[in-house]
Amino acid sequence: MLLILKPDKEQLGRAGAHIVAGAIRRNPKIRLGLATGSTMLTFYKELVRLHREESLDFSGIVTFNLDEYLGLPATHPESFHYFMHENLFRHVNAKPENIHIPDGTVTENYDRYCSSYEQAIRDAGGIDLQILGIGRNGHIGFNEPTSSLGSRTRIKVLTKETIDDNRKSFQPGEKVPECAVTMGIGTILEARRILLLASGSSKANSIAQAIEGPVTASVTASALQHHPDVTFIVDQEAGANLKHHDYYARVLRLTSELTPERI
Ligand code: F6R
Repeated sequence: MLLILKPDKEQLGRAGAHIVAGAIRRNPKIRLGLATGSTMLTFYKELVRLHREESLDFSGIVTFNLDEYLGLPATHPESFHYFMHENLFRHVNAKPENIHIPDGTVTENYDRYCSSYEQAIRDAGGIDLQILGIGRNGHIGFNEPTSSLGSRTRIKVLTKETIDDNRKSFQPGEKVPECAVTMGIGTILEARRILLLASGSSKANSIAQAIEGPVTASVTASALQHHPDVTFIVDQEAGANLKHHDYYARVLRLTSELTPERI
């Protein structure tokens, strides 16, 4: 586990984007797992800037998004399809046929649909680098507390806490989705490398529990402790409850000397 501490959300987004840009430059056909949410805004903004100003080429990449609200069409401004289009895809040269986002409009045969999403990931050769955010309750993707740590892509009922967090983005009076299609924890753990971004004081508890707490389905991000290659980038506020700062700083310093391309 590598922890990179940044002063604020802007620098966190830039640091994440530079790791991903390096990975794309090393492997132009990289398969990326992508996330949405407010934490990702500065990250995608920097990727777009790198495309425009430093010729970062997205034409060979293949992407799989983590999740989508059930019941929202791609045209809904709060859908993750819309978010990805607005914040990344309409600004870069990724090929539409290489972009995969779970379909929130499925209305039947959910298991079959979710298995086909898993199959598409396998057919592409698996995910090389998975980007994650984290919820206040420690969720990754929409794997809410008590999700099986071996879970696969499926329909997940959202907790009240997550629905309340999401409500802020919807119009007053508008129905907020109560379910989502999400990759499972088992799906996420199969990615070859994982990069998790967290910003703000509302994430301080979940970050401390994910990194330093016990592995538990009550904080599904803690399952990342079982993954061999995870990097957390957190800002000061999100890292405020971590205890082993000196050790993380030494790991970062020595890793950047031994394998600078990772950072
Ligand atoms: C979204 C996703 C979620 C978010 C998490 C944090 O695709 O997978 O796990 O990453 O809810 O969201 P923000 O960044 O809005 O706090």
